Amino acid sequence: MKIIVPATSANVGPGFDSVGIAVSKYLSIEVLEETDEWVIEHDLGDIPSDANNLLITTALKVKADLIPHHIKMVSDIPLARGLGSSSSVIVAGIELANQLGQLNLTNDEKLDLATQIEGHPDNVAPAIFGNLVISSYLNQKVNSVVAEFPSCSLVTFIPNYELKTSDSRGVLPSELSYKEAVAASSIANVAIAALLTGDLTKAGRAIESDLFHERFRQKLVKEFPQVKALGQKEGAYATYLSGAGPTIMMLLPEEKTTTVLNKMEALNLDGQVCTLTIDTKGVLVSEED
Ligand code: HSE
Repeated sequence: MKIIVPATSANVGPGFDSVGIAVSKYLSIEVLEETDEWVIEHDLGDIPSDANNLLITTALKVKADLIPHHIKMVSDIPLARGLGSSSSVIVAGIELANQLGQLNLTNDEKLDLATQIEGHPDNVAPAIFGNLVISSYLNQKVNSVVAEFPSCSLVTFIPNYELKTSDSRGVLPSELSYKEAVAASSIANVAIAALLTGDLTKAGRAIESDLFHERFRQKLVKEFPQVKALGQKEGAYATYLSGAGPTIMMLLPEEKTTTVLNKMEALNLDGQVCTLTIDTKGVLVSEED
């Protein structure tokens, strides 16, 4: 059995801790034979290969008496870059418990569990459902809406350095004034309404006007002003910090993709430039080899 989970890009501007999209990078875990102790075979660097791996600690939170297995874990989601790598592992862990423990969890139940573990639903929700997901989290319950993302091209810049979510959250203020909160939430409302009605021009304007987090975090991602300026010059709809960063996501009309890719490469920044697409499936279980 294989469990496949997409990467995710959270916040999408003003949707802080609430909005996310699933994108075309993937974590795949293959469940092999039963073993005495959990064995996680991977080449993902400095993460545990035993029951301390987040995959297993998550699965055991959902069902404590699962039989240990040998598991092969493969991923092209870079770690600590703002593409939801740990959320994808949490979703895979919940699905692992669901399958091995025959729990028949609904997607909403998976989302409640994943959000309790992660603390906010914006990455785990699209990792479960695919597409664009808008969620709120209150009293341990998630309320979420899944929607199609309007058709556009996604160009990303993934820096070669990591940025821990805790460090990136550490630069946020503990409070916003009532007036600022009202303004920030009105911007978020327009961003979502425009995405849902397919108006990427208005959505882009709102995404770039976020008041909740980007203005505080920009200093942590030195490439951000340069990439955003390029996007604005070339007619991108919006450029935003993916999740807690440091990945930068640009939404742009399809026909501008090649030009923007070339111009981004020409900036010679320390990182990888690539195009992604929206994943519309979310977590998948396959019985094929
Ligand atoms: N909403 C989260 C943040 C996503 O921006 O901190 C990363 O976990």
